[in-house]
Amino acid sequence: MNIAIITGASSGLGRAYARLLDAEHLDEIWLIARREERLQELAQELRTSCRIFACDLTQPGVLAVLQASLGERPDTEVRWLINAAGFGRLGYTTEIPLADQLAMIDLNVKAPVALTQLAIPFMSAGSHIMEIVSCSAFQPIPGLNVYAATKVFLLRYSRALGAELAPQGIIVTAVCPYWIRDTEFIPLASATDAHHLFRGFPLATTCEEVARRSLRAAKNNIAVCTPDAISFLHRILSTIIPHKLLMAASTIFHGLHK
Ligand SMILES: NC(=O)c1ccc[n+]([C@@H]2O[C@H](COP(=O)([O-])OP(=O)(O)OC[C@H]3O[C@@H](n4cnc5c(N)ncnc54)[C@H](OP(=O)(O)O)[C@@H]3O)[C@@H](O)[C@H]2O)c1
Repeated sequence: MNIAIITGASSGLGRAYARLLDAEHLDEIWLIARREERLQELAQELRTSCRIFACDLTQPGVLAVLQASLGERPDTEVRWLINAAGFGRLGYTTEIPLADQLAMIDLNVKAPVALTQLAIPFMSAGSHIMEIVSCSAFQPIPGLNVYAATKVFLLRYSRALGAELAPQGIIVTAVCPYWIRDTEFIPLASATDAHHLFRGFPLATTCEEVARRSLRAAKNNIAVCTPDAISFLHRILSTIIPHKLLMAASTIFHGLHK
């Protein structure tokens, strides 16, 4: 039984991936997020049979449920694992509640590592792991500090994992988009941005574009996907320009010290 597992499937990128993978002739798509009714709606829309896991990925016990589900059938093959669940908080680090900072680490770092570890034994040559990172991983970002730091972890983790799994033919792709305007991410992240450090989100892309381009990149065995012009440019600049200068530029750009 060939399956795809998608976290964060109730909204934004995760939902866009589910819609695209619907055409991949899988036997099941496993949809994971907290809002069950959203997952049910998506499952009804898709032609592929779906299994819904309405759960908070930061809570203990969830991984045991997923592990048990993976072990239910001896022929389960995870062809796609897409870790898209994630959230951010904008604003000065000292003004963001510590609970939010730790929750970001739990969801953006610990959950994908745990799910990836669970899924790998059920993968074989041609299986794909997609870790949804962000171009914020390319440099330290004042005003987006802890979130960007979680994404650096995920980027490094994905790259090394890809090298480790290459002999088995399992392909790992780190997806590093710039701002995406049509998901719930920006409004939720902005809730803590008391000083309006980030505004307007110019040149933001769309989740359908990011999902489509990154799926194509994954199929082409690309380790790091920058699915839009800004993230592509950001990646290049971050390898040429010292991070101290990039941080200063970002501080000026966002008017952080006005
Ligand atoms: N939007 C951007 O500008 C942008 C840019 C670069 C990278 N990204 C990354 O892209 C990924 C997808 O974000 P998005 O833009 O699609 O945002 P989104 O619309 O807010 O989607 C986030 C998803 O994560 C799920 N989620 C949140 N907390 C969860 C938890 N504790 N347990 C399980 N699921 C949880 C949400 O569902 P429930 O609320 O139903 O649980 C939702 O389905 C994230 O990793 C984000 O960091 C986003």
